[in-house]
Amino acid sequence: MILITGANGLAGSAMIREFARQGHPVKALVRSRAKARVLEAFPTVEIVEGDMQRPETLTNALSGVERVLLISSPNLQMVETQCTFIDAAKAAGVRHIVKFSGSTTALDSPFLFSRMHAEIEQYLEHSGLAWTHLRPSQFMTEYLREAPTIVSAGAFFLPLEDTKLTPVDLEDIAKAAFALLTTTGHEGKTYMMSGPEALSMAEIAEQISLATGSSVRYVSISPEDRNGALLAAGFPAYLVDALDVQADERRKEANGEAVVHPETHIALDIHPTTFAEFARRHAADFRGELATAE
Ligand SMILES: NC(=O)c1ccc[n+]([C@@H]2O[C@H](COP(=O)([O-])OP(=O)(O)OC[C@H]3O[C@@H](n4cnc5c(N)ncnc54)[C@H](OP(=O)(O)O)[C@@H]3O)[C@@H](O)[C@H]2O)c1
Repeated sequence: MILITGANGLAGSAMIREFARQGHPVKALVRSRAKARVLEAFPTVEIVEGDMQRPETLTNALSGVERVLLISSPNLQMVETQCTFIDAAKAAGVRHIVKFSGSTTALDSPFLFSRMHAEIEQYLEHSGLAWTHLRPSQFMTEYLREAPTIVSAGAFFLPLEDTKLTPVDLEDIAKAAFALLTTTGHEGKTYMMSGPEALSMAEIAEQISLATGSSVRYVSISPEDRNGALLAAGFPAYLVDALDVQADERRKEANGEAVVHPETHIALDIHPTTFAEFARRHAADFRGELATAE
């Protein structure tokens, strides 16, 4: 049996949808079943409740599980949450963990979450369990967060100057995770995964314009203006600081995020979704026509 943690979140729910699409049985770990009603629509998904920081709540979730896809929220508790879970999984007899990290994962990264992912990867490698690291680049869904100003002002505002990024479709990542969890030969390997193109924000704006049929501009703003907007929107200070550092790294193109990594799509025979395809699929979200975005 396979268990996916963080199953109620952005990435985890995309992974669950792929298992459901494939008709493959899977357990979905959530903290609250009441908040996971959408997963109940899938007959091959068994919803299990548990808190990754409290091993005593995980007995049912981990029972009979051989492989795990390890995901939790990018927050200050991420290392503690995932390392506690790794210990509990090992004690329960899990054999193999696929760790969901990020493309800039490194112990010496200036970006908080890249350092945290690296610490967890290292902990997992030393746990005695079989491991695989899946390292996706920026999710394309990050641009759905810009829908409100795209709708109200025909523009989105980021402190990224003319830097290029290689956003990847979560549906492609889900196909990769499915393959890593249901086929053999992936133990002890790291899978970097990006979208098929390095795109500037102006190019992303152009793709959203084409998909929605209305003009969308990218406006480069100062880091101070971005930080102020995030704080005003209620983001906690630690997260605003972390995102500020990440944007700084991106402006310098210092962390390899402008480099396309096609190797995982090729190795696992996954069609690399372009941003244009993603934008067409989400045209209604970018037009503000749907109440909820992915
Ligand atoms: N955004 C990007 O562009 C990007 C790119 C590469 C990698 N990543 C990585 O992707 C990962 C997933 O991100 P996401 O956006 O999917 O996060 P998310 O939406 O916050 O989802 C994380 C899920 O983990 C669950 N969780 C957190 N603590 C838990 C605990 N103690 N016990 C059980 N469940 C717990 C949360 O449960 P609740 O629903 O109960 O809160 C939530 O459903 C992160 O590690 C991030 O660093 C993100």
